[in-house]
Amino acid sequence: MFSTSASVLLWYILLIHVSEKADHFALSQVVALGPDVICNRILGLYPRQRNICRERPESIVTIWEGIEKGMRECRYQFQKHRWNCTYVPAQEPQFFPDMPKATRESAYIRAITSAGVTHAITQACSRGNLTNCSCDRSKNTAITEDGWQWGGCSADIEYGLKFSELFVDASHARDNAKGLMNLHNNEVGRKVVAENMERECKCHGVSGSCTTQTCWTTLPQFRNVGDILKRKYEFSYQVEQVGRRSKSRKIILKATLTNKKPKHSHLVYIEQSPTYCDYNLESGSLGTVGRRCNQTSSENDYCELMCCGRGYNTHQYDRTWQCNCKFVWCCDVKCNMCSENTEEYTCK
Ligand SMILES: *[C@@H]1O[C@H](CO)[C@@H](O)[C@H](O)[C@H]1NC(C)=O
Ligand SMILES: *[C@@H]1O[C@H](CO)[C@@H](O)[C@H](O)[C@H]1NC(C)=O
Ligand SMILES: *[C@@H]1O[C@H](CO)[C@@H](O)[C@H](O)[C@H]1NC(C)=O
Ligand SMILES: *[C@@H]1O[C@H](CO)[C@@H](O)[C@H](O)[C@H]1NC(C)=O
Repeated sequence: MFSTSASVLLWYILLIHVSEKADHFALSQVVALGPDVICNRILGLYPRQRNICRERPESIVTIWEGIEKGMRECRYQFQKHRWNCTYVPAQEPQFFPDMPKATRESAYIRAITSAGVTHAITQACSRGNLTNCSCDRSKNTAITEDGWQWGGCSADIEYGLKFSELFVDASHARDNAKGLMNLHNNEVGRKVVAENMERECKCHGVSGSCTTQTCWTTLPQFRNVGDILKRKYEFSYQVEQVGRRSKSRKIILKATLTNKKPKHSHLVYIEQSPTYCDYNLESGSLGTVGRRCNQTSSENDYCELMCCGRGYNTHQYDRTWQCNCKFVWCCDVKCNMCSENTEEYTCK
């Protein structure tokens, strides 16, 4: 499993990010440690997750890449919002990023990282990077009605879903409202990946004529997944815990407005979000002091909105860049320097 230097490097990065005292290790030492030691050192894993780590150590690297993929997308989607997907870790170590309160921001983080893990695992299967899975070739003999044929390497989304569920959902208890909310939102994230699988086809035939076609399924672009979940975030449902604890231990969540069990197409949250205007670690808010804003924007980065009415500072600076570049024979490129006086605004 340590055959490629790439995966060794990733193990190392993983240790640095999630383990204490990781800087005591050299790269070569990491290789020698072996999965048992490494899996014990990764902070914030639950026992079931630690077992999966020991049995299939290469999958942990992929899971971690999936979390990173999700968080990168989250930061992109929220770059113009007061909350820009910077999360405040809870007191105890966490493997999966989350917010301290059960807000809709927590819902987005759970769904996008769960989707990221599903995406990354499925992609790694297709690339042959995981020992336990590969392409899905189960449909490959079927000829469809309109004359094309399944062939090639279809993404094994079923494996990605199952494995992601097994690992990610092991973080959450089923006997409290926040745990149930997390499980629900994890499922929403996975479903968005599965429901947006695409089909790619290749033509065969003499000189480009398309007499026959073979087709396979591919994963959606992750940006697409991020966009869809962002809309779900905007229309997310508030839920509350119902049911008596004494009679059956099982608790369920119901939408506050409709009193129905929430659907798996909706993100759900329990607590109202703070305004994210002020610094308050307890609610997961870092505040917007020093954030860049835009005086003319019609989006959430509009200065009045971003700065919560506190006003903003104006900085003037000269922006310079290379322009009017020309190719000079031979072999040079000559450019002029252009500059422009621009202003930047940051919240007070
Ligand atoms: C995954 O597979 C690709 C191509 O087969 C390879 O280039 C890459 O290094 C692998 N990544 C890991 C983390 O093993
Ligand atoms: C995955 O690997 C484990 C052992 O590492 C094995 O028991 C299991 O059957 C495998 N599952 C699949 C779907 O190949
Ligand atoms: C996100 O917000 C935090 C807190 O306000 C800030 O420190 C950070 O620079 C912001 N990140 C980006 C990329 O704007
Ligand atoms: C500010 O917002 C306007 C309108 O949306 C946009 O055209 C402009 O590029 C933005 N400026 C910066 C610096 O992002």
